[in-house]
Amino acid sequence: MQVNIAKKAAAEQAATYVRPGMTVGLGTGSTAYYAIMRIGEMVRGGLDIKAVATSEESEQLARAQGITIIPFGEVQKIDVDIDGADEADAQLRLIKGGGGALLREKIVAAASDRMIIIADEGKVVQQLGQFPLPVEIIPFAWELTFRKLEQLHARPVLRKKEGQLFITDNGNYIADCHYERIADPEALHAQLNDIPGVVENGLFIGMADLLIVGREDGAVREISR
Ligand code: A5P
Repeated sequence: MQVNIAKKAAAEQAATYVRPGMTVGLGTGSTAYYAIMRIGEMVRGGLDIKAVATSEESEQLARAQGITIIPFGEVQKIDVDIDGADEADAQLRLIKGGGGALLREKIVAAASDRMIIIADEGKVVQQLGQFPLPVEIIPFAWELTFRKLEQLHARPVLRKKEGQLFITDNGNYIADCHYERIADPEALHAQLNDIPGVVENGLFIGMADLLIVGREDGAVREISR
């Protein structure tokens, strides 16, 4: 319950960066949910923006809130992207993909002028890796991709949800990689994406510009890169 106050506080602070005329990237997850809800309120109050979503779930929520979602073909640029994270370190390097939307999230983040990350205090870590690193892999010959991940000491586990294999919005699998500590995120990022069956991994490096951390008492602090 208190964590929800922290997430909501961070999300609502992030919404203050949204200005009329902007194209906004909408993230995925329980923290991004609060940002979408707040932006929806602002739109219903007369704010004129367009948005793109990082998952089908977020798109549906945004539309239900009255936010105009535009096709990617109509996007000139994305002014600000507001998204959650599973872990963030002091250099604003992130682990994302706990909700399985990492590929779309990374595509939108890479196309955005500014990426704002919203999180509760529990997501801020000294070293990345305690949260299992999600890696999106294609279903074809996934066992071979798994072996390559094992060679990188990833201890991969194929993600399941309610007993069923988890399938991403892109029709792929997620391998959750249990590193515990990631000493060199930049090097690992390159090694993982070098495996042919890997579509993308959940390390976001050099992408976040601002981290807004919400506290359980509703206060927020901002960390810029
Ligand atoms: C979705 O795939 C993720 O990257 C989320 O942004 C991340 O898991 C944070 O989610 P919560 O805000 O629900 O913790």
